[in-house]
Amino acid sequence: MSRPVLLLLSGPNLALLGERQPDVYGTEKLADHVARATAAADRNGLELEHLQSEREGDLVDAVHAARGRVAAIVVNAGAISHYGWSLHDALATFSGPVVELHLSNPDAREPWRRRSVLAPVSDGTVAGFGGVGYDLAVEAAARLLRAPGLSAVKA
Ligand code: DQA
Repeated sequence: MSRPVLLLLSGPNLALLGERQPDVYGTEKLADHVARATAAADRNGLELEHLQSEREGDLVDAVHAARGRVAAIVVNAGAISHYGWSLHDALATFSGPVVELHLSNPDAREPWRRRSVLAPVSDGTVAGFGGVGYDLAVEAAARLLRAPGLSAVKA
């Protein structure tokens, strides 16, 4: 029997992880984070699919295609997190758990990073834990799937 799918979305410039501002984002590459997320998904009986794009529209398309097919979404939208209202609106149409993810802690950085337009349509946010965040975000999504509601994550 096929396993429920967890969709991991990666936004612009995340393909450059490892080379890009390693002091902020670390030295691991996106493939390392995807491998970590895949292992966490496996442990939770989920099938991970990943899409990285520099374009907001591609992420919107992926959310549309996820509706009714994918169980949960983990999204590190990069800078789109701070202005991407079309991604916000797409995620608002998705009925499963949505976990927002950031490697860095945007609240501790420039003022323009402090607003996430995705937070209002996410169940919660994992930020500031570097690559470990990929583990934590998948774990949170899996717990929400098992028992929807905040208590599932806190227990
Ligand atoms: C990021 C934080 C964003 O502010 C930034 O634009 C990124 C990466 C993170 O993972 O910390 O591209 O989403």
